[in-house]
Amino acid sequence: MLIKSADFVTSAVKPSQYPPADLPEIAFAGRSNVGKSSLINTLVNRKRLVKTSSTPGRTQLINFFRVNDAFNLVDLPGYGYAKVPAAVKRQWGPMIEAYLQQRETLQAVVLILDVRRTPGDEERNFIAWLNRYGLPVILALTKADKLSKSKLSQRRRVISQALTQDSENLLLFSAKTRQGKEDIWRAIEQLLYAENR
Ligand code: GTP
Ligand code: MG
Repeated sequence: MLIKSADFVTSAVKPSQYPPADLPEIAFAGRSNVGKSSLINTLVNRKRLVKTSSTPGRTQLINFFRVNDAFNLVDLPGYGYAKVPAAVKRQWGPMIEAYLQQRETLQAVVLILDVRRTPGDEERNFIAWLNRYGLPVILALTKADKLSKSKLSQRRRVISQALTQDSENLLLFSAKTRQGKEDIWRAIEQLLYAENR
């Protein structure tokens, strides 16, 4: 994918604050601190378009970015162990759910998983939920730079079993080495203009 422009559009917590639904959209979801924001920066060849942090729970709003004036990438707040007040946390589920359910231009969700961690019920339920809403899922296994080649293929097998997904559907990625960037773009491009909702 040739990136001509990538711009922040807006942050939102509820549908009335979303930007106009005039471009196809791809959303990025995953556990807090897994590397969602870093992955988006890597895809658009930018270091700091999206704020990243070593503190989990950095992204607390739905952030919209417009790429090439042709489509939007959407950074969703992470779920899981974020160190945020309980009151804020309680709003997250409904905030993300409303977005996934109501955003008519949403074409697919990239679910980002740490390649070192075996996914559990949370991830399985999330995938099942997306399937129910007819939303295609791209599975990205990030932080691949942290493991050796042999360890990576072993982790890929374990994760594919835990999620009952073919291991070819699991895309290895690293924000550090940019491994897998083009694989993810290819998967996104296939779904961007598909009529699937
Ligand atoms: P929240 O917004 O808090 O949910 O986090 P996030 O999922 O957006 O993660 P973020 O991109 O902020 O990255 C979290 C931490 O992981 C940062 O310290 C990143 O530098 C690091 N990180 C992200 N991707 C990679 C990767 O591929 N390899 C390595 N080694 N570190 C990574
Ligand atoms: Mg983030």
